[in-house]
Amino acid sequence: MELPTRPTLFDFHGVSMTKYFTDNWENIQNFEARPDDILIASYPKSGTTWVCYMLDLLYFGNMCPERQTSVPLHERVPFLEICAPPRPKGTDLADQLSTSPRLIKTHLPVQFVPKSFWEQRCRIVYVARNPKDNVVSYYHFARMNGDHPEVGDWSTFLQDFMEAKMVFGSWYEHVNNWWEKKQTYSKLHYMFYEDLSENSGREIDRLCSIFGLSPSAEEKEKVRAAVMFDNMKQDKMANFSTIHIMKQDVSPFMRKGKVADWKNHFTVSQNEHFDEDYKQKMKYPELRFRTEI
Ligand code: A3P
Repeated sequence: MELPTRPTLFDFHGVSMTKYFTDNWENIQNFEARPDDILIASYPKSGTTWVCYMLDLLYFGNMCPERQTSVPLHERVPFLEICAPPRPKGTDLADQLSTSPRLIKTHLPVQFVPKSFWEQRCRIVYVARNPKDNVVSYYHFARMNGDHPEVGDWSTFLQDFMEAKMVFGSWYEHVNNWWEKKQTYSKLHYMFYEDLSENSGREIDRLCSIFGLSPSAEEKEKVRAAVMFDNMKQDKMANFSTIHIMKQDVSPFMRKGKVADWKNHFTVSQNEHFDEDYKQKMKYPELRFRTEI
């Protein structure tokens, strides 16, 4: 089957986007959230799939185990803004979900989130990752994913990341603006990839406490084991191997799953330049990222 040509990046209300995330804009903006919906938001490549899987297992792992082996995670947790025919639109998949709560994924910057999520006071989990590992992961993902614009070499990609020429725009604005939102929206839980990597059991406990879930120690351990990188990498329902636009032989979706892989990509001068630029762009001293653990 011939693959469609890669899309181009354009400015969309001040954010770089491609048609795959804007073509269904009216339906996205008019999406009717339900009060018990849980929105899992992130900048691309922050560990979204990890958290989606964790929450899906915590909510539904026991109730319907056959879901885990027969329904791909991207159908259990629809990607709200995706519109890449012939694959189903994210809004349609979300509308068709019969689970309660519905788990819905988005990469939208906070200002683009459909207003019904705020009106319904939905709970939101935001996942963030240190920018150095984030950009490395994004680079490899952009190479393997035909939904993404053409990718040049690593140093061009890194420069583009710093200049917000990325699908879903500036990482810096994304994490800062969601952080700012957290100060006034109490139902937003802001979590970090590095914390998950350091101690996933602790982060699962936090999610349980926030969502009022009380799995047994044994159930929690089952979730912790299932979401380990090596297990998710083997899991056809979680590793995106069912999405043919992703060329896993170019770079697997479940690539390395580590903190500090950036050290294998950044040169000394790229790192110095990046650190200088980072200081200029970050707004909140309390928002701290760990580039190693
Ligand atoms: P790497 O490319 O650094 O390996 P997203 O789901 O937001 O697209 O993020 C994908 C990144 O999260 C990839 O990072 C992927 O390997 C990593 N990831 C996914 N599941 C993981 C897990 N269980 N443990 C550690 N990292 C995971």
